[in-house]
Amino acid sequence: METIPVTLLFSDGVTHHLQATKGEKLLDVAAGAGLTLLTDCSNGQCGTCAANCVSGSLELDDYDPSVLPDDEREDGAVLCCVSRVLEPAVIELPYDSSEASAEEAPTQRGRVNAIERIAEETVRLEVDVAEPVHFLPGQYVRMLLPGQTQWRSYSMANESGQTRLVFYVRIVPGGMFSNWLTTEAAPGVEIEVSAPRGSFFLRNDDRPRLFVAGGTGLAPFLAMLRAVGNGTYSTTPTRLLVGVRTGQHLFATEEIEAIKRENPQLQVQYAAESAVVQGCHEGYATDLIAQIEVDPRTQVYLCGPPPMVEAGRDAAAKAGLRRGDVLCERFA
Ligand SMILES: Cc1cc2nc3c(=O)[nH]c(=O)nc-3n(C[C@H](O)[C@H](O)[C@H](O)COP(=O)(O)OP(=O)(O)OC[C@H]3O[C@@H](n4cnc5c(N)ncnc54)[C@H](O)[C@@H]3O)c2cc1C
Ligand code: FES
Repeated sequence: METIPVTLLFSDGVTHHLQATKGEKLLDVAAGAGLTLLTDCSNGQCGTCAANCVSGSLELDDYDPSVLPDDEREDGAVLCCVSRVLEPAVIELPYDSSEASAEEAPTQRGRVNAIERIAEETVRLEVDVAEPVHFLPGQYVRMLLPGQTQWRSYSMANESGQTRLVFYVRIVPGGMFSNWLTTEAAPGVEIEVSAPRGSFFLRNDDRPRLFVAGGTGLAPFLAMLRAVGNGTYSTTPTRLLVGVRTGQHLFATEEIEAIKRENPQLQVQYAAESAVVQGCHEGYATDLIAQIEVDPRTQVYLCGPPPMVEAGRDAAAKAGLRRGDVLCERFA
Protein backbone atom coordinates (compact mmCIF):
# COMPACT_ATOMS: atom_id res chain seq x y z
CA MET A 1 0.00 0.00 0.00
CA GLU A 2 1.21 3.52 -0.81
CA THR A 3 2.53 5.38 2.24
CA ILE A 4 2.65 9.14 2.85
CA PRO A 5 5.55 10.82 4.70
CA VAL A 6 4.63 12.80 7.82
CA THR A 7 7.20 14.73 9.85
CA LEU A 8 6.68 15.77 13.46
CA LEU A 9 8.82 18.63 14.76
CA PHE A 10 8.91 18.99 18.54
CA SER A 11 9.85 22.23 20.31
CA ASP A 12 13.11 20.74 21.65
CA GLY A 13 14.22 20.25 18.03
CA VAL A 14 13.60 16.48 17.98
CA THR A 15 12.16 15.39 14.61
CA HIS A 16 10.32 12.17 13.82
CA HIS A 17 9.84 11.00 10.23
CA LEU A 18 6.78 8.74 10.04
CA GLN A 19 4.84 6.94 7.32
CA ALA A 20 1.04 7.07 7.14
CA THR A 21 -1.57 5.42 4.99
CA LYS A 22 -4.03 7.69 3.20
CA GLY A 23 -6.80 8.85 5.56
CA GLU A 24 -5.05 7.51 8.65
CA LYS A 25 -5.59 9.50 11.87
CA LEU A 26 -2.52 11.49 12.86
CA LEU A 27 -2.73 10.19 16.45
CA ASP A 28 -2.64 6.61 15.16
CA VAL A 29 0.32 7.37 12.90
CA ALA A 30 2.19 8.80 15.90
CA ALA A 31 1.13 5.90 18.15
CA GLY A 32 2.44 3.45 15.54
CA ALA A 33 5.85 5.07 16.01
CA GLY A 34 5.60 4.90 19.80
CA LEU A 35 4.56 8.53 20.32
CA THR A 36 1.56 9.70 22.35
CA LEU A 37 0.66 13.21 21.20
CA LEU A 38 -0.93 15.43 23.85
CA THR A 39 -4.72 15.29 23.86
CA ASP A 40 -7.51 15.83 26.28
CA CYS A 41 -11.07 15.70 24.92
CA SER A 42 -9.96 13.82 21.76
CA ASN A 43 -12.87 15.22 19.76
CA GLY A 44 -11.97 18.77 18.79
CA GLN A 45 -13.57 20.55 21.74
CA CYS A 46 -10.73 21.76 23.98
CA GLY A 47 -7.70 22.84 21.90
CA THR A 48 -5.15 20.92 23.98
CA CYS A 49 -3.83 19.15 20.86
CA ALA A 50 -3.36 22.34 18.78
CA ALA A 51 -0.35 22.29 16.46
CA ASN A 52 0.83 23.91 13.24
CA CYS A 53 0.95 22.25 9.87
CA VAL A 54 3.89 24.13 8.34
CA SER A 55 4.05 22.21 5.09
CA GLY A 56 1.39 20.22 3.22
CA SER A 57 -2.04 19.95 4.79
CA LEU A 58 -4.18 17.69 6.97
CA GLU A 59 -7.88 16.94 6.74
CA LEU A 60 -9.84 17.66 9.91
CA ASP A 61 -12.89 15.74 11.11
CA ASP A 62 -15.58 17.72 12.99
CA TYR A 63 -14.38 20.16 15.65
CA ASP A 64 -15.64 23.20 17.53
CA PRO A 65 -14.79 26.32 15.44
CA SER A 66 -14.50 28.43 18.59
CA VAL A 67 -11.50 26.28 19.49
CA LEU A 68 -9.95 26.59 16.04
CA PRO A 69 -11.25 29.70 14.22
CA ASP A 70 -11.22 29.66 10.41
CA ASP A 71 -8.49 32.28 10.05
CA GLU A 72 -6.11 30.20 12.17
CA ARG A 73 -7.03 27.09 10.25
CA GLU A 74 -6.11 28.97 7.06
CA ASP A 75 -2.77 29.89 8.65
CA GLY A 76 -2.00 26.19 9.17
CA ALA A 77 -3.25 25.57 12.72
CA VAL A 78 -4.64 22.06 13.23
CA LEU A 79 -6.13 19.97 16.02
CA CYS A 80 -4.15 16.74 16.05
CA CYS A 81 -6.96 14.70 17.62
CA VAL A 82 -9.24 15.15 14.58
CA SER A 83 -6.53 15.27 11.88
CA ARG A 84 -6.15 12.76 9.07
CA VAL A 85 -3.27 12.41 6.65
CA LEU A 86 -4.07 12.78 2.94
CA GLU A 87 -0.78 14.19 1.64
CA PRO A 88 2.81 14.68 2.83
CA ALA A 89 2.84 17.05 5.81
CA VAL A 90 5.19 18.60 8.36
CA ILE A 91 3.62 19.35 11.74
CA GLU A 92 5.14 21.55 14.42
CA LEU A 93 4.15 20.60 17.98
CA PRO A 94 4.40 23.24 20.75
CA TYR A 95 5.99 20.90 23.33
CA ASP A 96 9.07 18.77 23.86
CA SER A 97 9.41 15.25 22.48
CA SER A 98 9.74 13.91 26.05
CA GLU A 99 6.08 14.84 26.60
CA ALA A 100 5.05 12.53 23.78
CA SER A 101 6.78 9.48 25.22
CA ALA A 102 5.09 6.22 24.29
CA GLU A 103 4.31 5.12 27.80
CA GLU A 104 1.45 6.95 29.47
CA ALA A 105 3.01 8.12 32.72
CA PRO A 106 1.59 6.07 35.60
CA THR A 107 -1.39 7.37 37.53
CA GLN A 108 -1.52 7.37 41.31
CA ARG A 109 -4.19 7.01 43.96
CA GLY A 110 -5.32 10.28 45.50
CA ARG A 111 -7.36 10.88 48.63
CA VAL A 112 -9.63 13.88 49.11
CA ASN A 113 -8.31 15.97 52.00
CA ALA A 114 -10.78 18.86 51.94
CA ILE A 115 -13.63 20.34 49.92
CA GLU A 116 -14.80 23.85 50.53
CA ARG A 117 -17.35 26.00 48.76
CA ILE A 118 -15.45 29.27 48.55
CA ALA A 119 -17.59 31.40 46.22
CA GLU A 120 -20.70 31.19 44.07
CA GLU A 121 -20.48 27.99 41.93
CA THR A 122 -16.87 27.50 43.03
CA VAL A 123 -15.30 24.76 45.10
CA ARG A 124 -11.73 24.45 46.41
CA LEU A 125 -10.65 20.83 46.37
CA GLU A 126 -7.55 19.39 48.04
CA VAL A 127 -6.32 15.94 47.00
CA ASP A 128 -3.41 14.19 48.70
CA VAL A 129 -1.16 11.78 46.79
CA ALA A 130 1.76 9.64 47.98
CA GLU A 131 4.34 10.78 45.40
CA PRO A 132 5.07 14.50 44.98
CA VAL A 133 3.70 15.85 41.70
CA HIS A 134 6.31 17.80 39.75
CA PHE A 135 4.77 19.88 36.99
CA LEU A 136 5.35 22.94 34.86
CA PRO A 137 3.29 25.79 36.34
CA GLY A 138 0.03 25.94 34.39
CA GLN A 139 -0.25 22.19 33.71
CA TYR A 140 -3.17 20.02 34.75
CA VAL A 141 -3.94 16.46 35.83
CA ARG A 142 -6.81 14.23 34.92
CA MET A 143 -8.90 12.68 37.67
CA LEU A 144 -11.03 9.55 37.59
CA LEU A 145 -13.85 9.17 40.06
CA PRO A 146 -14.73 5.87 41.75
CA GLY A 147 -16.87 3.70 39.47
CA GLN A 148 -16.45 6.02 36.45
CA THR A 149 -14.63 5.47 33.16
CA GLN A 150 -14.34 9.10 32.01
CA TRP A 151 -11.51 11.27 33.24
CA ARG A 152 -11.88 15.01 33.92
CA SER A 153 -9.08 17.59 33.73
CA TYR A 154 -8.22 20.17 36.40
CA SER A 155 -5.31 22.58 36.65
CA MET A 156 -3.16 22.65 39.76
CA ALA A 157 -3.18 25.92 41.71
CA ASN A 158 -0.48 24.79 44.16
CA GLU A 159 3.29 24.92 43.86
CA SER A 160 5.01 22.11 41.95
CA GLY A 161 6.59 19.21 43.86
CA GLN A 162 3.89 18.86 46.54
CA THR A 163 1.90 15.83 47.72
CA ARG A 164 -1.18 18.03 48.32
CA LEU A 165 -2.81 19.20 45.10
CA VAL A 166 -5.14 22.18 45.16
CA PHE A 167 -7.85 22.69 42.55
CA TYR A 168 -10.54 25.31 41.98
CA VAL A 169 -13.55 23.78 40.32
CA ARG A 170 -16.56 25.51 38.84
CA ILE A 171 -19.75 23.61 39.59
CA VAL A 172 -21.50 22.93 36.28
CA PRO A 173 -25.18 21.97 36.67
CA GLY A 174 -25.67 18.33 35.65
CA GLY A 175 -21.93 17.73 35.26
CA MET A 176 -20.48 14.40 36.36
CA PHE A 177 -17.54 15.70 38.36
CA SER A 178 -19.58 18.67 39.61
CA ASN A 179 -22.35 16.37 40.91
CA TRP A 180 -19.80 14.18 42.63
CA LEU A 181 -18.21 17.20 44.29
CA THR A 182 -21.51 18.49 45.61
CA THR A 183 -23.03 15.17 46.68
CA GLU A 184 -20.52 12.37 47.27
CA ALA A 185 -17.06 13.86 47.69
CA ALA A 186 -15.82 13.80 51.29
CA PRO A 187 -12.45 13.73 53.04
CA GLY A 188 -10.93 10.25 52.69
CA VAL A 189 -12.65 9.36 49.40
CA GLU A 190 -10.13 7.93 46.92
CA ILE A 191 -9.80 8.99 43.28
CA GLU A 192 -7.24 8.26 40.55
CA VAL A 193 -4.90 11.08 39.54
CA SER A 194 -2.93 11.14 36.27
CA ALA A 195 0.56 12.48 35.73
CA PRO A 196 0.66 16.20 34.85
CA ARG A 197 0.00 17.17 31.26
CA GLY A 198 -0.47 20.14 28.99
CA SER A 199 1.35 22.71 26.90
CA PHE A 200 -0.17 25.74 28.70
CA PHE A 201 2.71 26.42 31.05
CA LEU A 202 4.75 29.43 32.07
CA ARG A 203 7.61 30.30 29.72
CA ASN A 204 10.72 31.30 31.59
CA ASP A 205 11.87 34.46 29.86
CA ASP A 206 12.17 38.11 30.76
CA ARG A 207 9.31 39.44 28.65
CA PRO A 208 6.30 41.16 30.24
CA ARG A 209 3.41 38.83 30.96
CA LEU A 210 -0.32 39.38 30.65
CA PHE A 211 -2.44 36.73 32.38
CA VAL A 212 -6.19 36.75 31.68
CA ALA A 213 -8.36 34.39 33.73
CA GLY A 214 -12.05 33.60 33.38
CA GLY A 215 -13.60 32.12 36.56
CA THR A 216 -11.73 29.02 37.72
CA GLY A 217 -9.33 29.67 34.84
CA LEU A 218 -7.48 31.52 37.59
CA ALA A 219 -6.14 28.20 38.97
CA PRO A 220 -3.12 27.73 36.64
CA PHE A 221 -2.14 31.39 37.12
CA LEU A 222 -1.93 30.85 40.89
CA ALA A 223 0.57 28.03 40.23
CA MET A 224 2.50 30.29 37.82
CA LEU A 225 2.62 33.18 40.30
CA ARG A 226 3.85 30.82 43.02
CA ALA A 227 6.63 29.62 40.71
CA VAL A 228 7.68 33.24 40.18
CA GLY A 229 7.37 33.88 43.92
CA ASN A 230 9.68 31.00 44.89
CA GLY A 231 12.32 32.12 42.38
CA THR A 232 11.98 29.14 39.99
CA TYR A 233 10.82 31.51 37.23
CA SER A 234 11.94 35.00 36.33
CA THR A 235 10.16 38.02 37.80
CA THR A 236 8.99 40.36 35.04
CA PRO A 237 6.25 43.01 34.88
CA THR A 238 3.08 40.93 35.07
CA ARG A 239 -0.53 41.96 34.84
CA LEU A 240 -3.30 39.61 35.96
CA LEU A 241 -6.85 40.31 34.76
CA VAL A 242 -9.50 38.21 36.48
CA GLY A 243 -13.04 38.03 35.11
CA VAL A 244 -16.04 36.50 36.87
CA ARG A 245 -19.79 36.43 36.32
CA THR A 246 -20.70 38.32 39.49
CA GLY A 247 -18.88 39.78 42.47
CA GLN A 248 -19.98 36.69 44.42
CA HIS A 249 -17.95 34.48 42.08
CA LEU A 250 -14.65 36.12 43.07
CA PHE A 251 -12.29 33.81 44.95
CA ALA A 252 -8.66 33.59 46.11
CA THR A 253 -8.51 37.39 46.38
CA GLU A 254 -6.63 37.30 49.72
CA GLU A 255 -4.15 34.84 48.27
CA ILE A 256 -3.59 37.15 45.30
CA GLU A 257 -3.11 40.13 47.61
CA ALA A 258 -0.46 38.16 49.54
CA ILE A 259 1.34 37.26 46.28
CA LYS A 260 1.16 40.91 45.22
CA ARG A 261 2.83 42.06 48.44
CA GLU A 262 5.77 39.75 47.62
CA ASN A 263 5.91 40.76 43.97
CA PRO A 264 5.74 44.51 43.34
CA GLN A 265 5.93 43.85 39.57
CA LEU A 266 2.46 42.24 39.71
CA GLN A 267 -0.62 44.32 38.91
CA VAL A 268 -4.08 42.85 39.34
CA GLN A 269 -7.48 44.01 38.04
CA TYR A 270 -10.86 42.36 38.52
CA ALA A 271 -13.94 42.47 36.32
CA ALA A 272 -17.45 41.18 36.98
CA GLU A 273 -20.35 41.07 34.55
CA SER A 274 -22.83 42.06 37.28
CA ALA A 275 -23.18 42.61 41.04
CA VAL A 276 -19.88 44.38 40.83
CA VAL A 277 -17.91 44.86 44.04
CA GLN A 278 -15.76 47.88 44.87
CA GLY A 279 -12.68 48.31 42.68
CA CYS A 280 -13.99 45.89 40.07
CA HIS A 281 -14.57 46.77 36.41
CA GLU A 282 -18.16 46.14 35.25
CA GLY A 283 -17.91 43.92 32.18
CA TYR A 284 -15.41 41.38 30.92
CA ALA A 285 -11.77 40.99 31.92
CA THR A 286 -10.89 41.00 28.24
CA ASP A 287 -12.38 44.57 27.94
CA LEU A 288 -9.50 45.74 30.10
CA ILE A 289 -6.88 44.76 27.51
CA ALA A 290 -7.88 47.73 25.33
CA GLN A 291 -7.57 50.06 28.33
CA ILE A 292 -3.99 49.24 29.26
CA GLU A 293 -0.74 50.12 27.59
CA VAL A 294 0.60 46.81 26.34
CA ASP A 295 4.33 46.41 25.68
CA PRO A 296 4.64 44.79 22.21
CA ARG A 297 6.99 42.14 23.67
CA THR A 298 4.26 40.88 26.03
CA GLN A 299 3.48 37.19 26.20
CA VAL A 300 -0.24 36.66 26.79
CA TYR A 301 -1.74 33.71 28.65
CA LEU A 302 -5.52 33.19 28.41
CA CYS A 303 -7.38 30.59 30.46
CA GLY A 304 -11.08 29.99 31.00
CA PRO A 305 -14.26 29.29 29.05
CA PRO A 306 -13.78 29.19 25.23
CA PRO A 307 -15.72 32.46 24.50
CA MET A 308 -13.53 34.34 26.98
CA VAL A 309 -10.40 32.90 25.40
CA GLU A 310 -11.60 33.96 21.94
CA ALA A 311 -12.41 37.49 23.15
CA GLY A 312 -8.94 37.64 24.71
CA ARG A 313 -7.27 36.57 21.49
CA ASP A 314 -9.14 39.24 19.54
CA ALA A 315 -8.27 41.91 22.10
CA ALA A 316 -4.59 40.87 22.07
CA ALA A 317 -4.54 41.07 18.27
CA LYS A 318 -6.14 44.55 18.39
CA ALA A 319 -3.48 45.59 20.91
CA GLY A 320 -0.92 44.69 18.23
CA LEU A 321 0.41 41.52 19.85
CA ARG A 322 1.65 38.62 17.73
CA ARG A 323 -0.63 35.60 17.54
CA GLY A 324 2.33 33.35 18.36
CA ASP A 325 2.75 35.21 21.66
CA VAL A 326 -0.73 34.24 22.86
CA LEU A 327 -1.05 30.95 24.74
CA CYS A 328 -4.52 29.57 25.45
CA GLU A 329 -6.15 26.97 27.69
CA ARG A 330 -9.85 26.40 27.16
CA PHE A 331 -11.86 24.85 29.98
CA ALA A 332 -14.20 23.05 27.59
C1 LIG B 1 -6.94 21.25 30.14
C2 LIG B 1 -8.17 21.52 30.98
C3 LIG B 1 -8.02 21.99 32.28
C4 LIG B 1 -9.16 22.28 33.03
N1 LIG B 1 -9.01 22.78 34.31
C5 LIG B 1 -10.12 23.13 35.02
C6 LIG B 1 -9.99 23.75 36.32
O1 LIG B 1 -8.89 23.94 36.87
N2 LIG B 1 -11.14 24.12 36.95
C7 LIG B 1 -12.38 23.92 36.39
O2 LIG B 1 -13.39 24.29 37.01
N3 LIG B 1 -12.53 23.31 35.18
C8 LIG B 1 -11.43 22.91 34.50
N4 LIG B 1 -11.58 22.30 33.28
C9 LIG B 1 -12.93 21.89 32.84
C10 LIG B 1 -13.21 20.50 33.46
O3 LIG B 1 -12.29 19.54 32.93
C11 LIG B 1 -14.60 19.97 33.16
O4 LIG B 1 -14.87 20.07 31.79
C12 LIG B 1 -15.70 20.70 33.92
O5 LIG B 1 -15.39 20.71 35.30
C13 LIG B 1 -17.04 20.01 33.73
O6 LIG B 1 -16.93 18.68 34.17
P1 LIG B 1 -18.19 17.90 34.75
O7 LIG B 1 -17.79 16.45 34.84
O8 LIG B 1 -18.65 18.53 36.01
O9 LIG B 1 -19.28 18.13 33.64
P2 LIG B 1 -19.62 17.20 32.39
O10 LIG B 1 -20.16 15.88 32.84
O11 LIG B 1 -18.43 17.16 31.51
O12 LIG B 1 -20.80 18.03 31.76
C14 LIG B 1 -20.57 19.36 31.24
C15 LIG B 1 -21.91 19.92 30.80
O13 LIG B 1 -22.45 19.12 29.78
C16 LIG B 1 -23.73 18.69 30.17
N5 LIG B 1 -23.87 17.28 29.74
C17 LIG B 1 -23.19 16.23 30.21
N6 LIG B 1 -23.57 15.11 29.55
C18 LIG B 1 -24.51 15.51 28.64
C19 LIG B 1 -25.29 14.84 27.67
N7 LIG B 1 -25.19 13.52 27.46
N8 LIG B 1 -26.17 15.56 26.92
C20 LIG B 1 -26.28 16.90 27.10
N9 LIG B 1 -25.56 17.60 28.01
C21 LIG B 1 -24.70 16.91 28.77
C22 LIG B 1 -23.81 18.79 31.67
O14 LIG B 1 -25.13 19.00 32.12
C23 LIG B 1 -22.96 19.98 31.92
O15 LIG B 1 -23.70 21.17 31.75
C24 LIG B 1 -10.45 22.03 32.50
C25 LIG B 1 -10.57 21.53 31.19
C26 LIG B 1 -9.46 21.28 30.43
C27 LIG B 1 -9.63 20.75 29.03
S1 FES C 1 -7.73 16.98 22.38
FE1 FES C 1 -7.98 17.83 20.43
S2 FES C 1 -9.34 19.44 20.71
FE2 FES C 1 -9.32 18.45 22.65
